Amino acid sequence: MPEHAELAVLLRAAYAHLPQFFAGSRTWSYVRPEARVVGRDVEGPAAHAGVLRRFLQVGGADQLAAVVGLVAVRPGLQRQGVGLALLERVQEFLDDLAVPFGILMCAEHHVPFYERGGWCRLSPRRSVHSPDDTTEPHPFVDEISTTTLVLPVRRKDWPDGEIHWNGATV
Ligand SMILES: CC(C)(COP(=O)(O)OP(=O)(O)OC[C@H]1O[C@@H](n2cnc3c(N)ncnc32)[C@H](O)[C@@H]1OP(=O)(O)O)[C@@H](O)C(=O)NCCC(=O)NCCS
Repeated sequence: MPEHAELAVLLRAAYAHLPQFFAGSRTWSYVRPEARVVGRDVEGPAAHAGVLRRFLQVGGADQLAAVVGLVAVRPGLQRQGVGLALLERVQEFLDDLAVPFGILMCAEHHVPFYERGGWCRLSPRRSVHSPDDTTEPHPFVDEISTTTLVLPVRRKDWPDGEIHWNGATV
């Protein structure tokens, strides 16, 4: 799969701190995305995001959302606006999918990046997700998340309540 091999090169470079993923032509971490948004230049893939639609449960009710992750820009191109351009393409793609929302969890230091891209940080709330859907079952991560962000796509207000992800984050 040459497409996966070249995407894995980008993901290995961008996520150099996670060497256990992206060996060979593997292009996912805890769950395989259903779709990718990829930006290219002459050297190959330069920017990437993974997308996986899923029904989460929010406050006990089903909520469709596109889980977004594996957001990556080639290290030599970072801090030049490529990431924000990628987030614009992600938003367009989610709009084409006609999902109500995008959702992701990230590290605290990435929150300003996503907020500049139109994502909204949720107030702290209980979040339950699988740590890894690629191996045997492990206990769910059950925590108060302070870095869950949602992107309003076809709906405006994310519902209140604890979030059960029904799987791993992308
Ligand atoms: C996160 C990432 C995709 C951002 O891509 P990028 O092309 O560097 O982002 P941009 O240049 O479009 O940044 C736009 C704005 O986001 C914010 N931002 C981006 N990276 C940031 C960082 N590391 N720390 C703080 N703010 C950041 C800044 O406000 C920046 O504007 P500025 O450069 O004018 O200050 C990129 O750094 C990356 O691939 N990181 C490694 C993989 C990773 O950790 N991905 C996120 C997983 S949740």
